[in-house]
Amino acid sequence: MSEVFRPYEKLVEITILGKTFLVPERNSLLRAFQFISPETIPYGRFCWNQECQFCRVDCHLPDDDRARPILSCKFIVSEGMAISNLAPELVGCLRAKLGHVAQSNREAAAPPQTKASLAAMATAENE
Ligand code: FES
Repeated sequence: MSEVFRPYEKLVEITILGKTFLVPERNSLLRAFQFISPETIPYGRFCWNQECQFCRVDCHLPDDDRARPILSCKFIVSEGMAISNLAPELVGCLRAKLGHVAQSNREAAAPPQTKASLAAMATAENE
C-alpha cells in the first residue's frame, strides 16, 4: 500500500475530533486518513479530485486563529493540524478509528432543520 503515498521521511502529529494520530508528511489530508484507516477510505465515495466535496473538513492550523473549511483531498497535512468537523462520508469511514467521538460529530453536523424534522416525524408517528 505504501506506493499510494507520496515519499515521506517522518510522521507528523494531527488531531481528529480531539484524538491524536501520526500520519505521513507531504501527503494530502485524505491520504493521511487512508493511512489511519486503509481498510475503509479507499472504498469511500471520494473523487480524490476536488469535485465531490465528500472530503470536506474544518481544520485549525497552529498559526490560524480559527478553524476553516478545507477539502482534505487538496490540502497537504502538516504538524499540529486539528480537525474539528468531518463530512458524513469521512465520519462513516473513520468511525472505527474515532470511536464515540465520531458519533457526537455526526449529531453535531446534522443541520438544525434536520433534527427538527426528525423530532416532528417522531411526534407524528406517536400520534
Ligand atoms: S475527495 Fe472529492 S472533493 Fe475531495
